[in-house]
Amino acid sequence: MEALKGVRILDMTHVQAGPTCSQLLAWMGADVIKIEPPQGDATRGQLRDVPNADSLYFTMLNCNKRSITVNMKSPEGKTVFVDLLKQCDIMMENFGPGVLERLGFTWEKIHEINPKIVVGSIKGFGSSGPYADFKAYENVAQAMGGAMSTTGVPDGPPFVTGAQIGDSGTGLHLAIGLLAALYQANRTGQGQYVEVAMMDGVMNLCRVKFRDHQRLTRGGLSEYSVPTHQGMGATPRAGNDSGGGQLGNAIQCKPGGPNDWLYIVVQEAVWDALARRIGPDLGQPDLAADPKFATIGERRKNQNEMWALITKFASNHTKREFMEILNPLNVPCGPIMSTEDLANDEHVRGRDMYVELDHPQRGKWYNVGMPIKLSASPAVIRRSPLLGEHTDEVLKEVLGYDAGQIEKLKTAGAFSAPPKKK
Ligand SMILES: CC(C)(COP(=O)(O)OP(=O)(O)OC[C@H]1O[C@@H](n2cnc3c(N)ncnc32)[C@H](O)[C@@H]1OP(=O)(O)O)[C@@H](O)C(=O)NCCC(=O)NCCS
Repeated sequence: MEALKGVRILDMTHVQAGPTCSQLLAWMGADVIKIEPPQGDATRGQLRDVPNADSLYFTMLNCNKRSITVNMKSPEGKTVFVDLLKQCDIMMENFGPGVLERLGFTWEKIHEINPKIVVGSIKGFGSSGPYADFKAYENVAQAMGGAMSTTGVPDGPPFVTGAQIGDSGTGLHLAIGLLAALYQANRTGQGQYVEVAMMDGVMNLCRVKFRDHQRLTRGGLSEYSVPTHQGMGATPRAGNDSGGGQLGNAIQCKPGGPNDWLYIVVQEAVWDALARRIGPDLGQPDLAADPKFATIGERRKNQNEMWALITKFASNHTKREFMEILNPLNVPCGPIMSTEDLANDEHVRGRDMYVELDHPQRGKWYNVGMPIKLSASPAVIRRSPLLGEHTDEVLKEVLGYDAGQIEKLKTAGAFSAPPKKK
């Protein structure tokens, strides 16, 4: 049985942050009803690769959901929304600040309509504080949550990460909050308001950078490969440093292409074996005994020299060959995998992490699979819905409307865009 079977979610989320969360919950078996404005989630038409077909931006974030269009700016649309609120366990949204309130639905109002419903809300900066009124997108959150100032190299510009920690990361945080609140509502009969700010989510993911921020008040950070000193203030960008107690770095391999790199962690316990293996090829058979690298303290101090030696060794091996040399020595390492590598990787396919789907408008396409594996409730991934594909089905099955009622609402514009102003 699906873990969340019987849980019904009214999903008003759009773009990426919210849909990431509702897609995960749908993959766990929740019945997710996506309410869209009559013109649809804006991402349906963004970055289109197939003319007139829902974009991959949309399809990859909205699988296993049902789609219903409701014009929330019409009185009839609001009535349908209220009826749906009464039939759902969770309502979630990630509109800009004040949007839901302008539509007439504050948390208090929703709680009054259905005291057991849990409401999930993503905002750029939350509902309190000086930034509360600002909209946010992925990289705004990365900029303001500490990720960008700590990513890159000290003398270069700050960088965003490829991983969507501001949007998808926040969606994951919301999923945790919603499940906790749902568990509580099932015991108490009372729902609650779950708020996740993207900036807070990014800060949470940058926790170790705030560890280092505080350590800087006491002294330099010996494990950093870039200069640090007591009283420095902000945690600096440190390239590909490991960020943990063990030294790590990305090492360029043969033949020197953009992804011909291997990430290596020179764990304290593996230095001796590593030095014995690479030393002779480097003309330094006694590398393991070299006092410059004998202890972790010395290796930290002289790490740039150590990385140069390892890079020299790697110049004669591809990333896969180097990995094969290091695996028997128990050196934690991993090749930098391109999207092309991952899309064709046996391990990835074997774990259903790149799944083939079909779609009536676009044909064959792939989604990244469900990363959370439940032993008794494996996810079955189904394509994203077309706009309004399930409007009639939901009105009949969930709300018990009859054909006459549905027709009347349709004529009144409950599911369609308001007529253009003259
Ligand atoms: C992402 C974001 C910047 C997009 O901004 P935007 O395109 O201007 O959209 P908003 O959410 O501010 O507004 C949506 C509008 O559509 C309207 N709308 C939404 N659903 C509707 C429906 N079913 N029927 C009628 N109107 C609808 C809203 O009422 C609102 O109109 P208003 O401005 O007249 O009140 C903004 O939603 C935001 O900051 N969200 C919170 C942070 C977030 O999640 N960001 C990451 C996105 S990946």
